[in-house]
Amino acid sequence: MQIAQRMRPLQANVFADMDRAKFLARSLGKPIVDLSLGSSDLPTPPHVLEAIAAALPDPTTHGYCLFSGTQGFRQAAARWYTDKFGVAVNPETEVLLLIGSQEGTAHLPLAILNPGDFALLMDPGYPSHAGGVYLANGQIYPMPLNPEDGFLPRFEDIPPAVLEQSRLMVLSYPHNPTTATASLAFWQTAVAFCQRHNLVLAHDFPYADLTFTGQPAVSALQADPDKTCTVEFFTMSKSYNMGGFRVGYAIGNAELITALRQVKASVDFNQYPGIQRGAIAALTGPQDTVHHMIDTFRQRRDAAVAALDRIGWAVPVPEATMYIWAPLPEPWGDRSREFCLRLVERTGVALAPGIGFGKAGEGYVRLALVHPPEVLEDAIAHMASFLT
Ligand SMILES: Cc1ncc(COP(=O)(O)O)c(C=O)c1O
Repeated sequence: MQIAQRMRPLQANVFADMDRAKFLARSLGKPIVDLSLGSSDLPTPPHVLEAIAAALPDPTTHGYCLFSGTQGFRQAAARWYTDKFGVAVNPETEVLLLIGSQEGTAHLPLAILNPGDFALLMDPGYPSHAGGVYLANGQIYPMPLNPEDGFLPRFEDIPPAVLEQSRLMVLSYPHNPTTATASLAFWQTAVAFCQRHNLVLAHDFPYADLTFTGQPAVSALQADPDKTCTVEFFTMSKSYNMGGFRVGYAIGNAELITALRQVKASVDFNQYPGIQRGAIAALTGPQDTVHHMIDTFRQRRDAAVAALDRIGWAVPVPEATMYIWAPLPEPWGDRSREFCLRLVERTGVALAPGIGFGKAGEGYVRLALVHPPEVLEDAIAHMASFLT
C-alpha cells in the first residue's frame, strides 16, 4: 500500500508526543490538568442549546443540506459582521458556512495553490495552516514572528524569489499562540502588500471577540472593505463556546468564496441544519454570554500571570486570546518539547511546547486558560516545584 508523500509532514507531530505523554501519565494514576489545548471549558449558551434541541425532531433538518439551505445562516453571519465591523457584506456571494473555521483555512490552499506555489505563513502559527498547504502540494515560507516586532511579520524580509512564486499569505490576529494583536495600520500595510504582489490574504480570526481592551479586534476586511484580495475566517467555537458543534464561516472576496465552496462541494454537505439554527440563535440573540466569556478569561489571565510572577516566572500580560505565551526559564531555554514532556510526567500539568507551532516558537510554552483561577494557581504551584 502506498501512502502519499504529501502525508509525510503530517506524520511527525509534537502534539501527538504530548498526547502520548498525557495518556501515559493518566494511566499511571496521575491526575492531569490539561492546559495544552485551547478548547473552552465554558458551556454553550442555553438559548443556543434550546434552538438546536428544538430542531432535532424537525424532519426538515434531517436530510442533506445544500448551499441554498444555508441562506438563513449566511444572512445572520453577514448582519453580525456588519453590525460589529461596519463593512457591508453580501450574504449570497461573500459568505460561506464552514464545518469549523479550521476546515475552511485547511481547504483554502486547494482552491488557490498550484503544486509548488508558496504560501506565506506565520511562524509560530496554527498547525492546520501548514497542514492545508501540504495537502495542496504547496510550499511553505515561514515568516518568523519576533517579540521585538510585536510578533508581526516583516514583509520586507521575504526573499523576492519566494514572493514571485507566492500566491497566499495567512495571518491571524489576535494571534494563537503569541497572543499578539494587530492594528488597522498593520492591516492596511498587509492588504497593500498582498495587492501589490497578487497574493490572497487569508485572515484566521477566531479571537475576534476575545480581547481585554473593551474593543473587538480589528478585522482585516476593515482594511479591504471592497474585498479585493481578502477572505476572513470566523468561528463559533470561541465566542459562543461551541467548539464541539463544528461551525464557522468565511467572509470575503466573492471569487474566493466561490472557489472555496467548489472545493467543499466535493467534500461535504454542510453542517447539520439544527446546529446552523443554534449558530443563528448565537449570532442574533443576546450577547451577554460573550461578555461573560471575556470577563472569565480576563480573570483567569490575571490570576495566572500573578501566580507565575509569584514563582519568579515573568510573562507578558496578554491583551487578547485565551492563552499565555511564556518564555521558558533557564536552563530549559530552547527545549520546549522536553520541558513539556517532563512536566506532564512529573506533575500532571500539560502545556503546549512552543516548537509545536513552528521553529520560531522554540523557547516558549503556551498555557491555555481553560480552567478556573484556583485550578490554574494550583497547576502553577506544581510547576514551581518542578522548576526547583
Ligand atoms: C488560530 C485558530 N484557528 C482555528 C481554530 C479552530 O477553530 P474551529 O473550532 O472553528 O475549527 C483555532 C482553535 O483554537 C485557532 O486558535
